[in-house]
Amino acid sequence: MKIGLLTGGGDCPGLNAVIRAIGRKGMDHYSDEFIGLKNGWAGLMFLDYFDMERKNFSGILHLGGTILGSSRTNPEKEEGGYDLAIRNYKELGLDALIAIGGNDTLSVAQKLYEKNIPIVGVPKTIDNDICATDMTFGFDTAVAIATEAIDRLHTTAESHHRCIVVEVMGRHAGWIATYAGIAGGADIVLIPEEAFDINDVTDKIQKRMNRGKFFSIVVVAEGFQLKEEGWNLQTQETDDFGNIRLGGIGDLVAREIERRMGIESRAVVLGHVQRGGTPTAYDRVLGTKFGIAAIDLVHEGKFGMMTALQGTKIRPVPILDGVKESKTVDKETYEIAKVFFG
Ligand code: F6P
Repeated sequence: MKIGLLTGGGDCPGLNAVIRAIGRKGMDHYSDEFIGLKNGWAGLMFLDYFDMERKNFSGILHLGGTILGSSRTNPEKEEGGYDLAIRNYKELGLDALIAIGGNDTLSVAQKLYEKNIPIVGVPKTIDNDICATDMTFGFDTAVAIATEAIDRLHTTAESHHRCIVVEVMGRHAGWIATYAGIAGGADIVLIPEEAFDINDVTDKIQKRMNRGKFFSIVVVAEGFQLKEEGWNLQTQETDDFGNIRLGGIGDLVAREIERRMGIESRAVVLGHVQRGGTPTAYDRVLGTKFGIAAIDLVHEGKFGMMTALQGTKIRPVPILDGVKESKTVDKETYEIAKVFFG
């Protein structure tokens, strides 16, 4: 078969593990040919692609990012964008597409599938906010990076008797904040799913001070909003999918703590550091399993499906089930983080 491969949306560690697994099993086992569509849906829209050779799938397992490049290009934003994508798919002589992406990229995949393009999806994101899969690859690496940062910030916060607010990624879901907060022993974790006002935060810090703890670590997801305040936006502009660009809530929380309590406070924004660099072993294995499952799904003709981790098994699920909403942090997990607040 001749298969088009693309990675869309924010990159994440583990993408190359998926690409490698698809290519290696596809070429060696099924004698497939691959077209690498560059920079997400832009590659299909503007016919920016290359013929992938066996060597393209080698030596990339440990590399962060994606050898295909990525973008947030949305065919829906262009007039006749979907028709163009379908015309180009046919012009390339493809038999199937594999789209590796988050909610946005997979929503486009679903629309193309509804227009009779044979597509298989692979869910990716550091945010871990895709439904129907227990986890996405990239998340484990992001949590490891954030946890290491929290460990390092602990020692300096303690030496200087400061409160350090660590801002992590997570637009609508506080998975990274919750997991890194639990792993790093955060004193408060603020996530988009849970309402808090600044007094709740200062109460917890005061409780620690009453116990003789004169430093605190607050972990905040970028999408957290203080009650009665809006989102902290970096710009009024949105991307092709209507996503806002968040950032700055950590600074706001740190400033308020300092102003109200007189405790010297600092904000640290981890930002794209969480998305870069080498994937953890877990993400390499999950990415590899997803890649193998994706190429098998193509050959089984199971289109409109994406790979999903359910328990310890990789299963096919409809792309539609994955993208119908954002998967937010479950109460049980957040309750565990809360035991250690204050
Ligand atoms: O979707 C993944 C993500 O890393 C979000 O956590 C974050 O809000 C966003 O991407 C940042 O996007 P960009 O790289 O386009 O600024």
